[in-house]
Amino acid sequence: MAEAHRILVLHGPNLNLLGQREPEIYGRTTLAEIDAGLAAAAKGMQAEVECFQSNHEGVLVDRIQEAMGRRDGIVINPGAFTHTSVAIRDALAATDLPVVEVHLSNVFAREDFRHRSYVSGIALAVISGLGAGGYTAALQGLVAHLERPV
Ligand code: DQA
Repeated sequence: MAEAHRILVLHGPNLNLLGQREPEIYGRTTLAEIDAGLAAAAKGMQAEVECFQSNHEGVLVDRIQEAMGRRDGIVINPGAFTHTSVAIRDALAATDLPVVEVHLSNVFAREDFRHRSYVSGIALAVISGLGAGGYTAALQGLVAHLERPV
């Protein structure tokens, strides 16, 4: 049997508050429920996920760097760092791994400052506005990309 695809799932600042944080925008699903859903979905996709959340930019950069040579792809919701962090973009680019950027909300239907992403330019794909289901879609798309015929 082929080896499982090793996917790193990263959640940025304030996503630890999912379920209680502005539920009209982000929904009622908690981060633990999202991570459990991803782990279950991964089993049916020949994949395994490692999920990690931090409110700290440098900690996220460290985790991205650690993925080099150890992971096959990254799903990331950088939260507010999406709109501010050159460091996270540079770290993702340095890994040379396929990256899918996820947002629970449709950032393009919100404030202007959310329309710019430092990550999108180096991402394989961006999913924005599908709520918690966007993470599963990201995982599916990433695995399909890893299994594409070369
Ligand atoms: C978010 C959108 C960001 O603009 C915001 O700062 C977040 C969450 C989303 O998932 O919709 O923290 O990334």
